[in-house]
Amino acid sequence: MSARILIVDDEEDALDNLRHVMEKAGHAVTAVQSGAAALGLLARQRFDVVLTDLRMEGVGGMDVLAKSRAVQPEAEVIFITGYATAESAVQALKHGAFYYIAKPFRLDEVRKVVEEALEKVALRRENDSLRREIARYRDGDGIITQDAGMQRLLDMVRQIAPTDCSVLITGESGTGKELFARALHRQSARRDGPYVAINCGAFTEQLLANELFGHEKGAFTGATALKKGLIESSAGGTLFLDEVTEMTPAMQVKLLRVLQEREVLRVGGTRPVKCDVRVIAATNRDILACVGQGTFRDDLYFRLNVVNLELPPLARRAGDVPLLARHFLHKYATRMQRPVEHISSAALAALMAYRFPGNVRELENLIERGVALAPGDTLDIEQLPDALRANGPAASAQASGRLPTLEEQEQRYILRVLDEVQGNQTLAAQILGINRASLWRKLKAWKARAG
Ligand SMILES: Nc1ncnc2c1ncn2[C@@H]1O[C@H](COP(=O)(O)OP(=O)(O)OP(=O)(O)O)[C@@H](O)[C@H]1O
Ligand SMILES: [Mg+2]
Repeated sequence: MSARILIVDDEEDALDNLRHVMEKAGHAVTAVQSGAAALGLLARQRFDVVLTDLRMEGVGGMDVLAKSRAVQPEAEVIFITGYATAESAVQALKHGAFYYIAKPFRLDEVRKVVEEALEKVALRRENDSLRREIARYRDGDGIITQDAGMQRLLDMVRQIAPTDCSVLITGESGTGKELFARALHRQSARRDGPYVAINCGAFTEQLLANELFGHEKGAFTGATALKKGLIESSAGGTLFLDEVTEMTPAMQVKLLRVLQEREVLRVGGTRPVKCDVRVIAATNRDILACVGQGTFRDDLYFRLNVVNLELPPLARRAGDVPLLARHFLHKYATRMQRPVEHISSAALAALMAYRFPGNVRELENLIERGVALAPGDTLDIEQLPDALRANGPAASAQASGRLPTLEEQEQRYILRVLDEVQGNQTLAAQILGINRASLWRKLKAWKARAG
């Protein structure tokens, strides 16, 4: 990586020496012979690394460090000193210096320390840009996506949330149906009212009726007092009916009545009670097929399906995988207080090549597990389950013992470059000599085939 380096030393020989090594390493060097000159430059010009002498006439190295931290905290400062003492080293590091080298120094040592500092600068920059990217792609309801189809659904949510119309959310398990239901509620005028969710598949018919409609006192043995159901308690708010296709025919009739008449009849009751509720329903089943088979009433289907939000499976929006993976990485690293900050490119590539039958929930679980297992600051492919590790490009060739094809070799090389640059696709594309879009296309095609 070519970087901007500021060198400060009042000793001319040392200055020339350092300038020479850094220029040979391909960096853009600015060299000055006094601390005062360095302060002026730091105020005007950006640097990635500052190499400074500690003791100089007038303005010393510690002043250069202080100024650098203040005006460009992204830059790393390295001290080089002929008067190395333990105290001054501790002072320097305590005030945020990256490293402390004693004179006489070996040129390869300086080179190595500078490269390490530059790596840190690059990683931090990439982290910052990812954080910005995630913030950009995350709406107020915590839905993260860069997928154009998903963005259209979010636009639709904004449009229909303020209306009272029923919404049917469909999509495979773990695609975010519940998240969308909450978003609809939060963006509606009912946001201060209750949001009540119930899984219709989790109850027997009697229990579900009791939950949803409540009962009158004495409706059955044990009904010692009147109990309001969830429909009544969600008045003024939103009722989310999850797995709605699991309702029995009798329950479907009762629900239809609620939607048509805007009133509920408690179990054992004779007089219906008015209630103002907005219904959002969800299912991961093919609801039209259920209608076709006669297990789901078509009149109820039309009542529920005023607007349909069909959430695409995660495998059809692979571009969301890196964003979501990093979002969950941060979430679980924070929650478990583990210092895991990065995902290796190999791990990311394996994730992007995976089909995710459990969609976002499965990805979340994989990352949670990975964060718990990661030995250092990086979640690597070793922390992913075997099923995913087999998604590596060369895995099939290795397994069969044959020579890899040209394409497999290409994939292997791309992976290696991605690894080198910590997954920075822009940089990887530059090194590979292709544009970012073609790199993206290659990863996607590879993913599609593996899925
Ligand atoms: N786009 C997204 N951005 C951030 N988190 C998401 C996204 N999609 C899903 N999640 C998270 O993934 C998990 C599963 O989502 P959710 O419960 O909404 O799925 P679902 O479609 O209701 O699944 P099921 O059909 O199994 O009930 C949740 O923890 C949710 O917060
Ligand atoms: Mg759900």
